[in-house]
Amino acid sequence: MDARVTAHARYSIADIDKRLYGSFLEHLGRAVYTGIYEPGHPTALPNGMRRDVIDLVRDLDTPICRYPGGNFVSAYNWEDGIGPKEDRPTRLDLAWRTAESNQVGIHEFAEWAEAAGTEMMLAVNLGSRGLDAARNFVEYVNHPGGSHWSDLRRKNGRTDPWNVKLWCLGNEMDGPWQVGHKSAAEYGHLANETAKAIRAFDDSLELVVCGSSHSEMPTYPQWEATVLEETYDQIDYISLHMYFENYEKNTAEYLALPEKLDRYIGTVGGVIDFVKGKKRSKRDVKISFDEWNVWYHERKSDAKRMKEWDWPHAPVLLEDIYNFEDVLQVGCILNTFIRRADRVRIACIAQLVNVIAPIMTEPGGAAWRQTIYHPFHIASRYGRGTALQLDVDCPHYTADSADRVSYLDIAGVHDGDTGTLTFFAINRNGQENIDLKLATEHFGTVKSVEHTLIKHDDLEAKNTRDNPENVKPRKAEGAIIEGNTVRVSVPPYSYSMIRITL
Ligand code: AHR
Repeated sequence: MDARVTAHARYSIADIDKRLYGSFLEHLGRAVYTGIYEPGHPTALPNGMRRDVIDLVRDLDTPICRYPGGNFVSAYNWEDGIGPKEDRPTRLDLAWRTAESNQVGIHEFAEWAEAAGTEMMLAVNLGSRGLDAARNFVEYVNHPGGSHWSDLRRKNGRTDPWNVKLWCLGNEMDGPWQVGHKSAAEYGHLANETAKAIRAFDDSLELVVCGSSHSEMPTYPQWEATVLEETYDQIDYISLHMYFENYEKNTAEYLALPEKLDRYIGTVGGVIDFVKGKKRSKRDVKISFDEWNVWYHERKSDAKRMKEWDWPHAPVLLEDIYNFEDVLQVGCILNTFIRRADRVRIACIAQLVNVIAPIMTEPGGAAWRQTIYHPFHIASRYGRGTALQLDVDCPHYTADSADRVSYLDIAGVHDGDTGTLTFFAINRNGQENIDLKLATEHFGTVKSVEHTLIKHDDLEAKNTRDNPENVKPRKAEGAIIEGNTVRVSVPPYSYSMIRITL
């Protein structure tokens, strides 16, 4: 099958915010305990953080990490995680029916984030708590000193404020499963008042209000309209979440799901513009897609196990083992964010370690890269610069989620600093090669091309502790430069990065 793609220097979408490659770590399962934190592990630092995991996160180059939840945050008392560790209470976490020891709190997470080379994106509890706990937390984290909460932080060992810029006003407040779930009007009012209090403390902070938990929610997209009407002047981002499933084991349908993601972003973009127009505002609200990933491999059995267990601490939970098919899906999702970089400024893969995550650990043992680590790593490393409006001419197929799904899913990024053009391409056809002709116009002379490929003959292929490199990128041969056009062969069901030096 032939495909022709043209990139033109004047046709761009937006500069990509590097926070598009953000991540998320929740007090859930083994994400924190035996994930990032395991005193006694052979690689543990004096503060108990696993060095092997820090190294993998640094390699992933994720500029922000959302914390501490997730559903967990909606019944969390942030004060339980400060002060001497031996005095911290064990609490029941109502979201995941587990016990939370609070041995990791804001101080430990902040130290970890610094070591891992990522900035904190913090969520406040607007479920079981409200404005007061939120403003105290912001003061504890960001005020230099001379006030009750900032002096307590200093007493607890941290002199300088952490100056966290990005704050989430609750989590998935549209979801009936959420502790303290609210109607859109109730939540909008509370979020607005909380935002005003936080702004009174520091107007330069960036605030994220909850949008819909997914695009099948009965309240979507009216939720966005109501919440934005309440909060528009006080907030900077609206948060969206989406998880991808393939219960039917139908690859064509599965890989077409990012079309729904694209529509979701488009619709919420329209709602933002509607409210902006209604308010005669010049303020631009953007999207923070702060939870996304494949999540279905263990989902049903986890839900059953959770109902039966007796409040365990850090149990195995949501430990999806990803396969090669999920590499293609994650590639298509990231491409959608790049193509929507004008609307989506922040996106967080959910999650980072052990829990629906690109990084897995064994207690006392190894840490390794899941299959989905690789497309994320490649996009995070090379998908920075300006997102390009590509002209794509390729055969397509019909799926439940969209009528015209291009067999070639492609996004392009121009990085003026490195003088490179990078394309991320997924062949959604399992039978045929795509002979891709990539024309570049007005970027200058094409000097060289590199083709990195992730391909496995088995869509079910996984990376495990004993076989951690079963699915991984390799250099591919055969890309040809013809003037300012590059010809590449993209194998059936494969992920490619085509990087052109200008
Ligand atoms: O990431 C797992 C869970 O998914 C989060 O806690 C919640 O926000 C979402 O429903």
